[in-house]
Amino acid sequence: MTSFDTLVRPDRYPLSSAYDPAWLLRLDMGPHPLWMLEDLVRDLDLRPGARVLDLGSGKGATSVFLAREYGVQVVAADWWVGAEEAAEVFAQAGVGDQVEAVRAEAHALPFEKESFDAIVSVDAFEYFGTADSYLPYLVRFLRPGGLLGMATPGMTREVRELGAIPAHIKEVVGWEAIAWHTPEWWRFQWEITELVEVTSARLQEGGWQDWLLWARACADHDPENRASHQPVIDMLVADGGEHLGFTLMTARKR
Ligand SMILES: C[S@@+](CC[C@H](N)C(=O)[O-])C[C@H]1O[C@@H](n2cnc3c(N)ncnc32)[C@H](O)[C@@H]1O
Repeated sequence: MTSFDTLVRPDRYPLSSAYDPAWLLRLDMGPHPLWMLEDLVRDLDLRPGARVLDLGSGKGATSVFLAREYGVQVVAADWWVGAEEAAEVFAQAGVGDQVEAVRAEAHALPFEKESFDAIVSVDAFEYFGTADSYLPYLVRFLRPGGLLGMATPGMTREVRELGAIPAHIKEVVGWEAIAWHTPEWWRFQWEITELVEVTSARLQEGGWQDWLLWARACADHDPENRASHQPVIDMLVADGGEHLGFTLMTARKR
């Protein structure tokens, strides 16, 4: 049994380490979202009071973190999780006045043009954001000079370049792995539009290890769903960090 302590790593993630691992595991929808977000925001100049869209916010851990740690006003938009369920998380975390929960589909966002100072998305873009037309659609909601930050499962080399999805990934993720792009892929995809200036594009240092730590903690502390976590653990162990990690991207709207 992995201890909760494996999820408290103040040397690498000092802000995230203040959050109760049991609370985070209850909100689990994918790899440790606060580690990704804390690292991502190192490349993003979020100012207190900024209006931030958390796109694909899930059960809301990242929105709570944005409100508490950076003093921003958050709109938490998600498709699978209802606004009422997310609003309950925000109220219990004491950030109900700073975070508004909205049920929204990423291609039909119910917001005014240029109404956000920043858009942040953690472990969600891979589901809706890879089409050529998506970045141009999304940036219309950012004010000029507004910031975009995105963290998503990524690979060290493009599937296209490898010629096939590696077997250990295909077995668990199937064709969806074709959306797990390299930082270089995202950089080109975004910069070619000339709508944004990419300010950072990197594979997260230690991302593969972070993912494995999280998957093991989920399996140990959520025994009822161990069967759903074990294939991910097996995939990561088989990978050994050769292909898998997280792509972190930041950009500024021109
Ligand atoms: C793996 S979960 C991650 C949730 C959260 N960001 C986290 O890290 O815990 C992916 C999220 O993307 C959201 N999502 C997927 N497709 C979407 C779409 N078309 N529009 C809006 N949200 C979407 C889902 O609702 C889900 O909450």
